[in-house]
Amino acid sequence: MAANHCSNICFLLLLLLSHFNLGKSQLQLNYYSQSCPKAEEIIKQQVIKLYNEHGNTAVSWVRNLFHDCIVKSCDASLLLTTVRGVVSEQTSGRSFGMRNFKFVNTIKAAVEEECPLTVSCADIVALSARDGIVMLGGPSIEMKTGRRDSKESYATVVEDFIPNHNDSISLVLSRFQSIGIDVEATVALLGAHSVGRVHCTNMVQRLYPDVDKTMDLAQAEYLKRRCPTPNPDPKVVQYSRNDQITPMIIDNNYYKNILQHKGLLTVDEELATDPITSPYVIKMAADNEYFHQQFSRAIILLSENNPITGDQGEIRKDCRYVNAN
Ligand code: HEM
Ligand SMILES: *[C@@H]1O[C@H](CO)[C@@H](O)[C@H](O)[C@H]1NC(C)=O
Repeated sequence: MAANHCSNICFLLLLLLSHFNLGKSQLQLNYYSQSCPKAEEIIKQQVIKLYNEHGNTAVSWVRNLFHDCIVKSCDASLLLTTVRGVVSEQTSGRSFGMRNFKFVNTIKAAVEEECPLTVSCADIVALSARDGIVMLGGPSIEMKTGRRDSKESYATVVEDFIPNHNDSISLVLSRFQSIGIDVEATVALLGAHSVGRVHCTNMVQRLYPDVDKTMDLAQAEYLKRRCPTPNPDPKVVQYSRNDQITPMIIDNNYYKNILQHKGLLTVDEELATDPITSPYVIKMAADNEYFHQQFSRAIILLSENNPITGDQGEIRKDCRYVNAN
């Protein structure tokens, strides 16, 4: 009777403990050390190889982390392609300009060859971003693994999570705050706009019919040459690089540029002038080391947003499709 009583309590305690352990705390360093010891090395080698062939793949891995993780969870839902019964998150207007998805399959195939059905696509999203950041001259970040893959796409709610290029800073901050990312970390994450490009569609409303009064005049003249018409043909690839000086380096040039009102997006400009964010922008512009520290901290927060772990979700065989069962 007494033993029975205890076992009930023990069971309840265990249940409680495992409940508190769900999510974040179940990610761990070197999660694949037993099941696939070479996983992280294989992913890194693939990221390096792809970077050497197509440098902008590394840029894509950074943007993928944002677009996957902020929408509910870092669960590779972003990678699901449109097939019968599934609408891809990639079809959202917020995903405009995203590229290189096909090379995720290259990474996944290399990992599958070593350890079939063991390493999640979600961890590939996270680790490829981590390794891509190093290729782009950013900090080395220690990252936990053990994320599992979603069985569904969240295409219908993407816009509830990912802000638009012209949203207010208060909206941007509240979106990040709602997944546990503070103001300083949010400012640091926007530093990813130190690499890559912006298509004219996302800038023309700042150029036509009148130039946005907040924009630096020389920059406006330059951007009007890059984007000569107010209605860019979506089929013609017209864009500007984010950072004209070091376009492939994650450095604090972004903050220097936005303080000079050379930001490309409305959110970039507003980040520099909003009284809540501008003190951090000024500090990051002055100190690349500090920017990298905050960027590392913020990337970890983003990459650990609400992971699905344990026996939730699945390990996809092909990152584009939910497993057939
Ligand atoms: C308020 C938040 C954000 C907004 C509104 C935003 C919006 C955008 C837009 C409109 C583009 C240009 C797409 C195009 O025209 O091709 C872009 C590019 C990019 N964004 Fe963001 N972004 C935000 C935050 C972030 C964060 C947090 C990261 C990563 C940590 C990120 C990484 C990137 C990268 C790497 C690119 C360049 C992509 C490429 O060249 O292929 N962004 N973003
Ligand atoms: C933001 O830009 C989109 C086009 O990308 C436009 O439809 C929308 O009206 C703009 N919103 C604001 C608040 O200016």
